[in-house]
Formats: sequence, structure tokens, C-alpha cells
Amino acid sequence: MDQSGTLDSLLQEERVFRPLPQLVIEANVNPQELEAARRQAETDPLGYWEEAADELDWFKKWDQVLDDSNPPFYRWFAGARCNVVYNALDRHIETGNKNKLALIWEGEPGDSRKYTYYELYREVNRFSNALRSLGLGKGDRVVVYMPPLPETLIAMLAIVKLGAVHSVVYAGFSAKALRSRIRDAEAKMVVTADGFYRNGRVIKLKNTVDEALVGACSDCVDSMVVVHRAKVEVDMVEGRDFWYEDLIRQERSESPTEVMDAQDPLFMLYTSGTTGQPKGVIHAHGGYMVGVHRTLGQVFDIKPTDIFWCTADPGWITGHSSVVYGPLMAGTTTVMYEGHPLYPQADRMWNIVAKHGVTVFYTTPTLIRMLMRFGTQYPKRFDLTSLRLLGTVGESISPEAWLWFYKNIGRSECPLLDTWWQTETGMFMISPLPISLLKPGSVTRPLPGIEAAVVDKDGKPAPPGKGGLLVLTRPWPAMMTGLFKDEDRYKEYWQQVPGGVYFAGDVAKKDEDGYYWIQGRADDVLNIAGHRIGTAELENAFGAHRAVSEAAVIGVPDRIKGEVAKAFILLNPGIEPSDDLNKELKRHIKNELGPVAVVKSIEFRDSLPRTRSGKIMRRVLKAQELGQDVGDLTTLEAD
Ligand code: PRX
Repeated sequence: MDQSGTLDSLLQEERVFRPLPQLVIEANVNPQELEAARRQAETDPLGYWEEAADELDWFKKWDQVLDDSNPPFYRWFAGARCNVVYNALDRHIETGNKNKLALIWEGEPGDSRKYTYYELYREVNRFSNALRSLGLGKGDRVVVYMPPLPETLIAMLAIVKLGAVHSVVYAGFSAKALRSRIRDAEAKMVVTADGFYRNGRVIKLKNTVDEALVGACSDCVDSMVVVHRAKVEVDMVEGRDFWYEDLIRQERSESPTEVMDAQDPLFMLYTSGTTGQPKGVIHAHGGYMVGVHRTLGQVFDIKPTDIFWCTADPGWITGHSSVVYGPLMAGTTTVMYEGHPLYPQADRMWNIVAKHGVTVFYTTPTLIRMLMRFGTQYPKRFDLTSLRLLGTVGESISPEAWLWFYKNIGRSECPLLDTWWQTETGMFMISPLPISLLKPGSVTRPLPGIEAAVVDKDGKPAPPGKGGLLVLTRPWPAMMTGLFKDEDRYKEYWQQVPGGVYFAGDVAKKDEDGYYWIQGRADDVLNIAGHRIGTAELENAFGAHRAVSEAAVIGVPDRIKGEVAKAFILLNPGIEPSDDLNKELKRHIKNELGPVAVVKSIEFRDSLPRTRSGKIMRRVLKAQELGQDVGDLTTLEAD
């Protein structure tokens, strides 16, 4: 890439980075094709997505591309029959991909395993047969509480293959958080591991599941499958708990792929919202596979020789779409790493890139900020010339981090693709392609077929450069089909801004070139190291402690994690603030929610700012904390 502008003037936003001519020539989608796709998608959006669907295999094609007779309950590929696993696995066995590497996995201690598509196919079939023998069937929910292991990916595919629905829960969540997700999903089974390696330690998992199951629900989970990963002593409950290795030993390596309706649920994934209860986002087979396949192919320009490494944990949507389903549908080689990015030292990521010849490296701004602290000594020790594309997701990337990544990892040659999307969108929505002109910090423009806008609260378009609410104005294939057992909350996404548009929950601005700049959440959801967590979830967790009368939580900027939580606490009568209590409360939050919920500081207060109706004004706390103007205080209750 040549560059108009200078690396030193970090405060200018108008620097533009252009792709190298050779890259444009070799790209799967060249600039003319991209413009043609945009035009086609504008004039004939359904035709555009129908062509995308034709690139995949179906057991029966659709009667209608989009049934929009009952908005906001859109039905993509109505009448079609399919299974995403057929496209991710089965169809490759009939092609030259059969003996190609599907998965390269590396454990934290340095062990590694590789699977060809054929090997993965047979392993998935064995496990799918085993699950069937345990009584699992179409529509049953299975919670997968696993670190990044080959068996995590295998379990996800095996569950979906037989028509059941997985709900992967991030292994960093606590027993309590796991219990509430198992209970809400009414899961029939849990798949887990005895433990795993993280930052040089063994983290116990099976014990956490045992704890979560106490009181989870008496009649839901009737079996647990445990993968043997770390040497952890576990108690196996006779008749309920089974070792993965024992189950698959005798199973056949062929297994039927269940024929699913395009609308049938594929997976659910819990994500935080503005209330204390996480929402179970549901994705369905048909739309999800079309949206993810098309957009992953466009953005990451997948080539037969690629080694694709998305560093996300399988517990997040990025892990679903960009580690498992997207790369496998594309027939590429996906990379998974079990452990901590700085273990045993801060060169681990570069070591993996060099060792396996990674060509596409897709990660988070938090990880870049973490690695930037160590300077360039580590990346310089490795040959990173296999890399051809870089990507980020989850939070905005500052121009400083963008340039560091681009220059020191991407040799000022690899396009850095900042992709905006959500658990709810399933697929990339606003993102550059490798051929796009890039502005550091901008997610550029909506992909073909996606229509977005920045509007005010009345739904009127905001002028260029002015912040507003980010909305999506047209349904898209991989959109969630609903929230589990909560139709009303699903409808809220479409009711908050007038005009029947989807409100993403983000604030953004659009510049004169139509480029989008994401500015953060508009609601009471924090983005800690790219992970969503609701202030209400944190406040409820504080409230569960015997010392706490009331809590208010705000997000404050953090150099590495982007944002962390700060809590203001009113104590119960007779309880005195102390350093010990401060520490105890932080421990308590970790226990309640898990390490995802990073509370940086706790401040004990005698009162909290409130509206006349008694609602805590977090906005005022935040402004005070950041030394900003507190704004309109007319509704502030007089003391
Ligand atoms: O606030 C936006 C932020 O992450 C939110 C979605 O979080 P989640 O559902 O956990 O999915 C994250 C990974 C797809 C969004 O509402 N976000 C996501 N991507 C970006 C981003 N913020 C800025 N820039 C991005 N590229």
C-alpha cells in the first residue's frame, strides 16, 4: 500500500491508505465488481442474496427469498431445506478439499493437532452418532462450555449435524452465569472439558459445571460429556457424565446430516443488553449460512492457499462465524489457539503466525494494544511475510493502534480491515474489502446488500460528520431470527427508532465520503476488551452482596481494555467502607460473573445522583468521573 499522509500526524483523520496494485489485480472482488455488486444489491436486493444462496448446497431450494409479511419477523429462504454442516463439512468430502487441512489447533503448552476435512468429517460423525445414542434430537439445546479445543468445534458441528441447537458459553464465565444460561436455554446436555491451560495454569471446568448444575433446573440437563484435556481430578456422576473418548470409540464414522428447515434454529448465543438478564440470540440455518459465507468471502478474499486465523474464543459470535462456520464453509484452513496471548511471553501470537504460515490474521484492538506495549522487538524476531490481510473487530481501533498494526505486522502492505458487526447481525455488516481505500479508525462503508444510516432519535438522517444512532434499514440474511422466549425484547430492536429500522445500540457518524466511524454504545452496555456486559448485570451482581444497598456502574476509558467498569456503592446501614471490603467486592463480582467483568475501581458514596422519580443518573456520575460538563441537571433530585 502506498500512503497519502504521514505516519507521524496521528491526529488527522483524513489519511487514506490505498491497496497495492498487485493486490487489486489478484483480489476475488475487484473495484468494478464491487461497484456492480453494490448497484445490483440496491436495485434488486433479493436477486443479489439469491445469487449468494446459489453458491451453497441446499436439500431443497426456497419458495421465496424473503418472506417479509410479518415484520420484524423476517423469514429468509422460506420453504428451503438445508443444514449449515452440509456446507461446512459434508460437501468438501466430494471435492479436492477432502484431504486439505481444515483445522490447525495449538495448545498453550505447545502441543498441536491438525485435521483434514476428511478427518474432521469422520470425527464429527462419530460424535454426532454418540450424541444421538444419548438421546439428543432435533431442536434440543446443548450448552457447550469449552475453551478453544478441536473438540469444541467438533461438538458444535456434531450437535448441528443432528439438528440440535448449541449454546456456547464462554469458559471465562462463572458457575452462576453458566447456571442462568443453562436454565434459560432449558438445555438437555452440557459438553465440557475436565480443564484447560491458560497462562501457565490449569483452569478447572468440569467442577464449575457441577457447581452450576446444582439448582440449575431439575428436569433439564440429563447428561454431560467431558473431554479429557488437562490432568484434573473430576467426579463423574454415574449415568449422567460420560468421557468424550469413551463415547466415540465404538461409533461409526458415517452419520446422516439432518434435513432442516431454513428457519430452524441453528444456535443460540447469550449476549448482554440493558437489563440484568442476558438475551438468547437465535440464528437459523438458511439465512445465517448465506450471509456469513458471502461476507466472509468478500472481506477476507479467501484463496485456496490461505491459513485463516481469527483469534476469537468460540464463546463469542466471532468464534462462531469467523473461526468455525465461515472458514469451513469457505473451505479454508482455520487456526485455533487454546491459551493466553502473552504465554510464555509476548511473542506467542507472532510465533504461531510464523510457524503455521498464517495468511489472514483477524483479531481485536484490545490484543493489539496489549502487544504494542512490548514494542517491535518480538514481531521483528519472526518471519511474518506469510501475512497478506489483517482484520479487527469488537471495538473501535484508534489510529495509533491501527498504524502500529499496519506498519509493524502488516509491513505497510497488508490491508487492515476493521469489520463492524454484532452477535445479532451474525455476519459482517460494515467493513472494507481488501481493495477499499482505508481510513484508520473507520469501518468504511456497508457491504453490498446492507443498508445502514446514522439518524437522530426521530429517525431523521444526521448531517455528515455529526454523531447519531446507527441503524440498519433493510433486513439481511444472517440476522437473528429472534430472542429465545422473548418476542417483546426482540421487537424492541425495531421500535426504538421510528421507521421500522433496526437500532444497533451504537452511536456513529458518517463522513463526507459516506465512511462510518463507530463511537461506542448508546445504551447502558459496556464494551470491556471487546466483550459486551450490561451495567445492570454488574449492578445486580453488586446488589447480591450482603454489604451493598445500591450500586451504580459506569464505563471508564482504559488504555488496554478500551473500557472498564467503575462502581459507585451505597452500603447498608452499619457497614463501613474499607480496603478489605473493596477487595472483597471485586472478588465477589468475579465469582458472580467471571473474569470478563473487569471492575477497575469501587467508590463508596453516601448518596447517588437521582432523577425526581428516583432513577440513578449514571450520566452525571460519568461526567463527574471524566471531568466533563454534567449537562442538564433540572431533573436532579434536590437533596
Ligand atoms: O458496539 C459495537 C462493538 O461491539 C458491539 C457488538 O458486540 P458483540 O455482539 O459482542 O459482537 C462483537 C463482535 C462482532 C457493537 O454493537 N463493535 C463491534 N465491531 C466493532 C465495534 N465497535 C467499533 N468498531 C468495530 N469494528
